[in-house]
Amino acid sequence: MSVSIGNFKNSAQFAAFTIFLGVFAGSQFLSSALMAQATIPASLGTLLSGSGSGVTGSLTGAQEDGFVDLFNGKNLDGWEQKNGTATYEVVDGTILGRTAKGSPNSFLCTEKEYGDFELFFEVKVDKGLNSGVQIRSLSKPDYKEGRVHGPQVEIEWDPGESGYIYSEGTKRGWVSPTRTQKNVLKNEGWNKYRVLADGSRIQTWINGTCVEDIEMPAIESKKGFLGLQVHGVKKNAGPFKVQWKNIRIREISGDERREMKAFMGTPKVDGKIDDLWEGVPRVLTSRSIDEVDELSADQKASTAWVRCLWDEGHLYCLAEVTDDAISSQAGDEWDRDGVEFFVDRNFARTSTYDDDDAQYRTEPDGNQSTGSENDLSTYKSAVTKTDKGYIVEVCIDLKGKVGKKIGFDVQVNNDPGDGRRMSAMKWNDASNDTYFDMSNAGTLEMVEGN
Ligand code: BGC
Repeated sequence: MSVSIGNFKNSAQFAAFTIFLGVFAGSQFLSSALMAQATIPASLGTLLSGSGSGVTGSLTGAQEDGFVDLFNGKNLDGWEQKNGTATYEVVDGTILGRTAKGSPNSFLCTEKEYGDFELFFEVKVDKGLNSGVQIRSLSKPDYKEGRVHGPQVEIEWDPGESGYIYSEGTKRGWVSPTRTQKNVLKNEGWNKYRVLADGSRIQTWINGTCVEDIEMPAIESKKGFLGLQVHGVKKNAGPFKVQWKNIRIREISGDERREMKAFMGTPKVDGKIDDLWEGVPRVLTSRSIDEVDELSADQKASTAWVRCLWDEGHLYCLAEVTDDAISSQAGDEWDRDGVEFFVDRNFARTSTYDDDDAQYRTEPDGNQSTGSENDLSTYKSAVTKTDKGYIVEVCIDLKGKVGKKIGFDVQVNNDPGDGRRMSAMKWNDASNDTYFDMSNAGTLEMVEGN
């Protein structure tokens, strides 16, 4: 087994790896060897261990909840191995991957490609083995002779960086900018992963704990196969094993209506993130409206993470906008940098504006406007500048109540300084019609919260 230091995701990992190599290599080898001998028919294994996904061999057929089993518990139909020579076999209704001497990173990949999806799987990994699940990944003859590359959801022994995103095979390294939660994966036994890849937003959970929630850089691939990684190991290390089971996926369509929750609370509207905003769920304006031109590789859309609070008389929204060049050059307000909020107060989803429907806009210089003759005297907003762009905090008059739902959307306009709107990113409705038609807005539900 020979693998270069470069295969380790960071030097600390390599150092840790070499330390426990000496201590644990022997026992790992023994348990792996026992495991190999213990191979029994998958169906019997499933019954004995209760670990199977309960499927009966077919890969097709969505279940009622929209999920499909990617692994049938019996064979590797629907999967193909790419790159290295690690072995993958079906044992006890699980996929068991085992390192091989001298092999580079190996991947067992789905034949099918996925873009936006919700994925569940369970995994168990040996100490000393780095692993991960590739999402939206590619293998092309003209890219390093088929080297598997793309975002990977990390799997490694605690303390590690499990659940964070690494850009495998691209030399870009970690996509997750900070990786502070090092102990979420349980070393012994199975770990339940959940991955939500919805447009440019990727969220991961391990055993119910949210580990990552980021906006993927535009350079990362948007669609591709899933791949179960068995990392290459150092000379004389291993063999190590990693096992997966209950791999289930639900594809998400690009226009699925999004939902968000607003927590109860009355913040000061000053453009600052006070304590009340802590823990309030956030959403990302990740859908590009149809009307704007496609961005070239060096252009970046301006987006915002948005959170909402409510009280008896108001809805409060806080939008943290990423914008590398704030500009108000364009003639029309909606073409300049700024954030727009849309509310359908009576949740009637009408295709024309009724009295309860409104559009409010605030620009980074504080200028307010509306496209639909709404009363701006009841709208308050404040703006502060940040390292990454700016924050808009607003207060909209609206009667709040636990359990109440309204139609809601947010749009971030980006003026690059040449008099036009380069990008307009919405939370839900990818059409440009929300300023006169509320039927496709997202859903906001008022809950008590923390
Ligand atoms: C739309 C613009 C429209 C404006 C009217 C914006 O939300 O994106 O195209 O002209 O509203 O206020």
